[in-house]
Amino acid sequence: MLEEEYAPRRVKPFHLRRLPAPEAPFTWTIRPATPRDLPDVREIYNHYVTNSMVTLDEDTMSLREWRAKYAYLTRLKLPFLVAVSPSGQVLGYALCAPWIQRRAYRFTAESSIYLRAASTGKGLGRALLVALIDAGREAGLKQMLAVIADRGAEASMALHRSLGFTEQGRMGDVAFKFDRSIGTVLLQKSIK
Ligand SMILES: CC(C)(COP(=O)(O)OP(=O)(O)OC[C@H]1O[C@@H](n2cnc3c(N)ncnc32)[C@H](O)[C@@H]1OP(=O)(O)O)[C@@H](O)C(=O)NCCC(=O)NCCS
Repeated sequence: MLEEEYAPRRVKPFHLRRLPAPEAPFTWTIRPATPRDLPDVREIYNHYVTNSMVTLDEDTMSLREWRAKYAYLTRLKLPFLVAVSPSGQVLGYALCAPWIQRRAYRFTAESSIYLRAASTGKGLGRALLVALIDAGREAGLKQMLAVIADRGAEASMALHRSLGFTEQGRMGDVAFKFDRSIGTVLLQKSIK
């Protein structure tokens, strides 16, 4: 090996070094979901089905099931929104579904919100839930409900409470997932 190969690598003085490109700001657009978003919606949701207790579904949802759900919510004119990145990637979704399938409950809906794991904790959940509340009000809803697992869903609980959802009740040990029993908390917000 040549002697100069042992020489320490030369390092540019600090003022001549190229700075790393600044991280692009995290931005999004919120719009109604379309059938083309459903594969992404399915992927986002199934991640939480498989890896968490924030949803108490144990079986992943198929694209066919998402298409049926989309058609059903569209028929009822209930909001189903997605947040997308500037490059068009679906970062998360939020929707309202009937709370109980009886006519008398037609002004009450249950909300759901799920973000891609990498998109959490940056304010998107808040923006999306605010948009869902506005869209629900526009659709004629009067009460919005959220059912949240009593463990492992701290972000969801904080988000709903900070937007004025209040606790209406708790049910202990009503579900069983990953060999653990879990309870639920019912939250409600009047959006009249
Ligand atoms: C729940 C979820 C939608 C929240 O969205 P988010 O973008 O992560 O949350 P935001 O950054 O908008 O923060 C909203 C509020 O929650 C708080 N928060 C966020 N993450 C938190 C955490 N891990 N623990 C405690 N509080 C948290 C924020 O401080 C903020 O409070 P503020 O409005 O009083 O300032 C998102 O984390 C998510 O998709 N989680 C996994 C799926 C899920 O739990 N869905 C709900 C099922 S019930």
